[in-house]
Amino acid sequence: MGAFSYCWMLLALQLLLLQLWLTNASLNLNNSQTYIIHLNNSHKPSPFPNHESWHRNMVKSLTLVCPKDKDAFLVYSYTHATHRFSAKLTPCQLAEVEKWPAHLTTHKESFGLMFTTHTPKFLGLNRSLGIWPTASYGKDVIIGVVDTGIWPESESFNDDGMSSIPSGWKGRCENGTAFTSSLCNNKLIGARSFSKGLNAAGLNGSSDNDFDSPRDSNSHGTHTSSTAAGVAIGIAPRAHLASYKVIWNALNVPASSVATDILAGMDQAISDGVDVMSISLGIREQPSLYQDVIAIASFSAIVKGIVVVCAAGNSGPDAATMYNAAPWIMTVGAGTIDRNFVATLELGNGLKFKANRMPNFYPVTNRTPPTKDTKMNYPNMNQGFHPRI
Ligand SMILES: *[C@@H]1O[C@H](CO)[C@@H](O)[C@H](O)[C@H]1NC(C)=O
Ligand SMILES: *[C@@H]1O[C@H](CO)[C@@H](O)[C@H](O)[C@H]1NC(C)=O
Ligand SMILES: *[C@@H]1O[C@H](CO)[C@@H](O)[C@H](O)[C@H]1NC(C)=O
Ligand SMILES: *[C@@H]1O[C@H](CO)[C@@H](O)[C@H](O)[C@H]1NC(C)=O
Ligand SMILES: *[C@@H]1O[C@H](CO)[C@@H](O)[C@H](O)[C@H]1NC(C)=O
Repeated sequence: MGAFSYCWMLLALQLLLLQLWLTNASLNLNNSQTYIIHLNNSHKPSPFPNHESWHRNMVKSLTLVCPKDKDAFLVYSYTHATHRFSAKLTPCQLAEVEKWPAHLTTHKESFGLMFTTHTPKFLGLNRSLGIWPTASYGKDVIIGVVDTGIWPESESFNDDGMSSIPSGWKGRCENGTAFTSSLCNNKLIGARSFSKGLNAAGLNGSSDNDFDSPRDSNSHGTHTSSTAAGVAIGIAPRAHLASYKVIWNALNVPASSVATDILAGMDQAISDGVDVMSISLGIREQPSLYQDVIAIASFSAIVKGIVVVCAAGNSGPDAATMYNAAPWIMTVGAGTIDRNFVATLELGNGLKFKANRMPNFYPVTNRTPPTKDTKMNYPNMNQGFHPRI
């Protein structure tokens, strides 16, 4: 296995324990709300040079259809993680969108919550032998961390001895409140922030409680970034970092995040050219896998050869349940017992793997194979993709 493979395996092991729940906020509905809309791409008329111009034009056209309503506006047009857009729409505008021949699916904005991490000591890593030197400490790997941003002056992000920025890197460091692109170096090679979705939900991500920039006012993102690739305690101390801020301390609602911003951060990370995405957060309401933006964007990432590592969250919401369980995500959770429950996982093509399983605390009755319309949640669980294994 190459250094790269070792690196992401190690990274996968780092996401453990604890989770900080968000204050339960409610969307400022008024009469318009943010939706993520999936259109059939093959309907894009050729005069539009790209999907964004098509999306923008379609959203603009709604003004004519619902003249009494305030104007609809495009929040984001996504290109790399998915061909969807998000827009703030009134019921009349949404009804119109759903009549478009190109319309495939709609889902409502939802809130995220943060998870957090533990240390290399727990993994028994040794600087001088074993997997660490074998993996060159993550040299030349770019890890994109989707979180609360970064505190660039931390010694963890000192670039002494770091290799230069890999060629082909398309990311950048944006200017903003208490942040300039000159704060980046050969360790921190990208820093961007995404708050348009949160602002559209009526929560001011750029308020006095936070920096309107990639700077981290919470510390969670600095913690997860330094755990992933910091020079002091990082699992991959030679890897480069790119920070995508999607969680904000909004006024009266600390640590707020919304699906539209999370998707925008992941979209950008794919476009910038990260090798690994590290995501220690989850989205509360995902009625099905097909509406889970982390699962959707991760799938596009995996197809492009980017490994996505997510925290499982260790508080359910119910016994034997977890977040971020799409099978193409490397999802990491903590155990509280020192034993394994081994099971054989058999894939459709006959390949078999030994895997750990959770004991079945409750009988799962309906074992029919999932289809496109399968609801991934189980009785008494009204949020999240929480399969029992
Ligand atoms: C709802 O929107 C209207 C029109 O933009 C505005 O005048 C009104 O103050 C808003 N109401 C609330 C509760 O935000
Ligand atoms: C998208 O549109 C094309 C052309 O109309 C059609 O053939 C295709 O089935 C549509 N795809 C989906 C997923 O509906
Ligand atoms: C790392 O391995 C070396 C050589 O076996 C050993 O002397 C050292 O104590 C180990 N360090 C840790 C932290 O385990
Ligand atoms: C960022 O800000 C600095 C200093 O204010 C300025 O020199 C630089 O041109 C800005 N860069 C961008 C990309 O806006
Ligand atoms: C957000 O808060 C900042 C600082 O309090 C203020 O300047 C800005 O206008 C607010 N933005 C919105 C969209 O309310």
